This record gives sequence, structure tokens and C-alpha cells, in this order.
Amino acid sequence: MNTAGKVIKCKAAVLWETNKPFSIEEIEVAPPKAKEVRIKILATGICRTDDHVIKGTMVSRFPVILGHEAAGVVESIGERVTTVKPGDKVIPLFLPQCRECNACCNPEGNFCIKSDIAGHGLLSDGTTRFTCKGKPVYHFMNTSTFTEFTVVEESSVAKVDDAAPPEKVCLIGCGFSTGYGAAVKTGKVTPGSTCAVFGLGGVGLSVIMGCKSAGASRIIGIDLNKAKFEKALAVGATECISPEDYIKPISEVLSEMTGNNVGYTFEVIGRLETMVDALASCHMNYGTSVVVGAPPSAKVLSYDPMLLFTGRTWKGCIFGGWKSRDDVPKLVTDFLAKKFDLDQLITHVLPFNKISEGFELLYSGQSIRTVLTF
Ligand SMILES: NC(=O)c1ccc[n+]([C@@H]2O[C@H](COP(=O)([O-])OP(=O)(O)OC[C@H]3O[C@@H](n4cnc5c(N)ncnc54)[C@H](O)[C@@H]3O)[C@@H](O)[C@H]2O)c1
Ligand SMILES: [Zn+2]
Ligand SMILES: [Zn+2]
Repeated sequence: MNTAGKVIKCKAAVLWETNKPFSIEEIEVAPPKAKEVRIKILATGICRTDDHVIKGTMVSRFPVILGHEAAGVVESIGERVTTVKPGDKVIPLFLPQCRECNACCNPEGNFCIKSDIAGHGLLSDGTTRFTCKGKPVYHFMNTSTFTEFTVVEESSVAKVDDAAPPEKVCLIGCGFSTGYGAAVKTGKVTPGSTCAVFGLGGVGLSVIMGCKSAGASRIIGIDLNKAKFEKALAVGATECISPEDYIKPISEVLSEMTGNNVGYTFEVIGRLETMVDALASCHMNYGTSVVVGAPPSAKVLSYDPMLLFTGRTWKGCIFGGWKSRDDVPKLVTDFLAKKFDLDQLITHVLPFNKISEGFELLYSGQSIRTVLTF
């Protein structure tokens, strides 16, 4: 049945307010307007960032359709869309690439002005394409993938190789690319260096994979949950520690373990305390610390500026520093060429209607990535 130009009724996981369970609802998805693309979602991962909205530590409007790490196929396109067509395999991009703003035009930049981390939840014309029970439902970070169909702007979609398995390459839409890029692009980890990764979830493990591919000789994984150590060692960590096993600050522990030679640290949790711990843990002069974990909104951090005065570099990165529309198709090609493995990150695959079970697996610390299939 040709659905182009028509409203599609389908199932979506709607979050009506913070700290409430998802409800699977029938929603209406309007056709894409000019420069917009309607996508049938085939698979979507569960990332901690979705949970930040559920918990209210990341700003959003409600009701909202979360989800931002997915792969799908283009169902139809609006006027003046030139880079994708119906039937194309695609990855929606929570970080757009408009190719016109200063960040897009700067070779080092990627934080496109069209990004919606402020949580407006609207497309460019100031409206939404979703309704449920007669009410508008807001978009999430230009993507909204916990639904059978979504609408995104052309700047938020990348065409990828048709051969790409959606239930795996969905992780290239967020977790894998973010972590891997944080090491190879933002941190610029050097061969033979020592790295420390705080937080061993899907993103932290991807940082480890990036450090390894950059040739780091020592990669220390740090997590409170020791159940994460086995996977971390399997993807490339050389040793793992829990801060709870020490009385000393973790920065001193790492300094003693390495002869004061940690070149790179990565905060991949999203907590203010561990952001400062990670900064203090890299070498006081030539060390670099990268903030990957999403900071809780409206929170302020205080730290001793002496940590920076002695020469450390403190950086952040969104989506691993990649330019999303340019780099996502290349990352998919690299995956198909077996340059990295995504299977190690996927611990659970569930049907979409078991989304709440997927989040329970995240909360209990049992999952790395749960992929929901449609
Ligand atoms: N910068 C970006 O573009 C970007 C993209 C994706 C995700 N993120 C953020 O990255 C962070 C990690 O995402 P994830 O999906 O891997 O999350 P996750 O919840 O799967 O992993 C976090 C890990 O940190 C551990 N942890 C929690 N508190 C700790 C503490 N005090 N000390 C040590 N370890 C601790 C947990 O046990 C868990 O293993 C989140 O904040 C997420 O929002 C940022
Ligand atoms: Zn994410
Ligand atoms: Zn831009």
C-alpha cells in the first residue's frame, strides 16, 4: 500500500511525563513537509540519554517520543529532499549536519546549529508531526525512534549501505560512534599511551574500542559495577578497577598504578563528581580529559582551576566529534569491512513492545545495549 502523502497510524512508545512508564499508543504520523523525511524504523537501541529525559535530568517537552539510536528505511520524502529517496536504508541523526552553519563549515566542528539538545521538540516550522489522542506529541533530539514511523529533517538523516544489518548498525546512530570518536577524534589518543575510561556502559566500551584502535598500550576501565569488567576486558581494556575498593581518591590510585602517566581520561557516566575525578586523573601537564557523559541540565560544577593551570586539556564532545551526515555512512562501511565489532555491545534484543523490559535491563546493570526490533 502506498502511504506517501497520507497520515500513517502506527504504534509508538509515548512518554506522557517524567518518571512514568512508557505507554504503547496508537499515534498519527503526518506526512513529511518540505526538506523532511518519513522513516519506517527497523531497529532502535536504548541509550542512557533516553533515561535522562525519563528521570528529568535532561530537558524535554511532554508528551514526547524518545529514542535516538536507530536504523530504518525511508517511507516517503517531502518536497526538495535530494539526498535520500523512498526505500533507502538510513540512520536518523540526533546531531544534524545542515552543511551551512559555522560548526558545519569548520573542519573541526560538528555541533550543528540545528541540534535540539535544548529540548524544543519541534521541527523547523515550529510544529510536530506526531499526534496522540488529539494532542501534539513532541520530537526528541531531531530523531524520535521509539515508534514504527518517524519524521526527521533531511539534515538529520544519513543514507547508509543497503547491506547494513539494522539491528546492529543502529548503534552507529549514537553509542558506538560517540565513544569511538571520543577516543580517536576528540581525545586523539596516541599509540603507546595510557587511557582511563570512567563508566563501562555501551558508550564507555566504545571508548575502549577507540583507544585500542588508536594503539593505546594500557586501557584502565573504571566502574562501580564489577559485572561490567568482563565485557570491558573483552573489547580491549587491559585492567579494570572499582573506586569502591579504595579509600584514596581514584586519581591517586591511577597515578600510582601507572607511575603518574595517564595520558587520556574519559568520563562516560554523566556525573559532576566523576567529571572532576577524570580531569584530576589525567597527567597534570600533558593529560587530556574528555567529557562524554551528558551533564545533568541546570547543574553547576566547581573545581580547582589549578587542575587546568598546570597544563591539562579538558574537552567535551557530542557524537564523538563526527560530522554526522558525512561520517555515519563511512562508519557503516567500516563496520561492513569488519574494522570493528558491534556484537560485543549488544547484550539483548527484544521486540519493540517490550521496551519497558529493555529499560529495566539498563537499570539493573545487566545490559550493555538492548536493541528493540520492529
Ligand atoms: N556526548 C554524547 O554525544 C553522548 C552520546 C550518548 C550518550 N552520552 C552519555 O554518555 C553516558 C553513558 O551512556 P551509556 O549509554 O554508556 O550509559 P550506561 O548507563 O549504560 O553506562 C554508565 C556506566 O557508568 C557506571 N557508573 C555509574 N555511576 C558510576 C560512578 N559513580 N563511578 C563509576 N562508574 C559509574 C554504571 O555502572 C554504568 O556501567 C550517559 O550520560 C549518556 O547520556 C553522551
Ligand atoms: Zn545516545
Ligand atoms: Zn549545521
